[in-house]
Amino acid sequence: MSLAGKRILLVISGGIAAYKSLDLIRRLRERGAEVRPVMTAGAREFVTPLAVGALSSGHVYTDLFSREDEQDVGHIRLARDCDLIVVAPATADLMAKMANGLADDLASTVLLATDQPVLVAPAMNPKMWSHAATRRNVETLRRDGLAFVGPNAGEMAEGGEAGLGRMAEPLEIVAAAEDLLDGGRKPLAGRRAVVTSGPTHEPIDPVRYIANRSSGRQGHAIAAALAKLGADVTLVSGPVTLPDPRGVKVIRVERAEEMLAAVLGALPADIAVMVAAVADWRVATANTEKIKKKPGEGPPPLMLAENPDILKTIGHHEKRPKVVVGFAAETQDVEDNGRVKLQKKGADLIVANDVSPETGIMGGTRNSVKLITAAGIEEWPDLSKDEVAGRLAGWIAERLS
Ligand code: CTP
Repeated sequence: MSLAGKRILLVISGGIAAYKSLDLIRRLRERGAEVRPVMTAGAREFVTPLAVGALSSGHVYTDLFSREDEQDVGHIRLARDCDLIVVAPATADLMAKMANGLADDLASTVLLATDQPVLVAPAMNPKMWSHAATRRNVETLRRDGLAFVGPNAGEMAEGGEAGLGRMAEPLEIVAAAEDLLDGGRKPLAGRRAVVTSGPTHEPIDPVRYIANRSSGRQGHAIAAALAKLGADVTLVSGPVTLPDPRGVKVIRVERAEEMLAAVLGALPADIAVMVAAVADWRVATANTEKIKKKPGEGPPPLMLAENPDILKTIGHHEKRPKVVVGFAAETQDVEDNGRVKLQKKGADLIVANDVSPETGIMGGTRNSVKLITAAGIEEWPDLSKDEVAGRLAGWIAERLS
């Protein structure tokens, strides 16, 4: 009974693979899960709500505007009162809606309203799966933090064509659901973490500011990875264009001083990971009005003042988290500078990286880092920022155990 007591909302959309969803319901229930089905209009062309209801032994939700259903649970509660949403089969059309935030029926509305993990089992014709539009949508959904199982290669149910597009088998979907819900793999459950991410913007006047090239990708990925391991994460983010990671509380700030205040507000915490590229200096007194060009006067002088060092403040704070991690963005002497920062800032670990423009790390999607601790240096291979985040969350969990 690996899914005992788990509440799974099963969204069935309109593909021929919907017939496999009947078996999926049985398999999920065999493992102790409670299954609430939501069917799209398309799904009802392939399998009947009667069959789905009989197997799930409960109500089948189909209509966004049903007075009876809305009085019963309502679509918002339907979206939230569950441990996991499984979309099987997920058609190209439903994935396109999900990727673009459309909500024109019950299934898509529930998927937009949820804050629970979502597992997607795509099923479609191989040409549709390989189409550029579907590739883009899958990429978007992955970036939004949705998990995928399949599709598999093989003969399509409609016959004739073979290729990638067959829905994963019910038992594979069950295994992926178990994986996502596995409480045993949440070593950071009950731990609080605060993560900073992105650049800061330091105003010069109401329209101009000092900034840097940080995209926030690494910091956001770390917040998501810690949350995935069960931590209660507060992400304090400077201005970025990234979506909020799932299951993470996000506080948006602009200036370093605001970032420090938000980080202090998130204490006490067990873990602090300071990834933000905090501006070292701010304009001493930002102009309240736009600075105008004055003929004959030349450019205005900019007096700078030093910003608070957030990592150093946390590293020496009376409520210092048990694990304090900093980053070191360097363009030369990466190891030596990293070691100095470890000491000076009171961190347990400095993740040092070379941000020279030719590495493409700052603002890019990959990272190659060196882990500097009092015990020595460990070098990781070139990885995606998500992989670095996953490994780092594992390192932190290990350290805390
Ligand atoms: N950091 C911080 N507050 C600052 C400056 C940096 O919290 N005002 C943190 C960063 O989030 C990072 C670490 O300190 O975790 C190192 O940042 P980095 O920019 O590499 O170092 P600096 O201390 O700014 O030193 P320098 O710019 O001289 O290399």
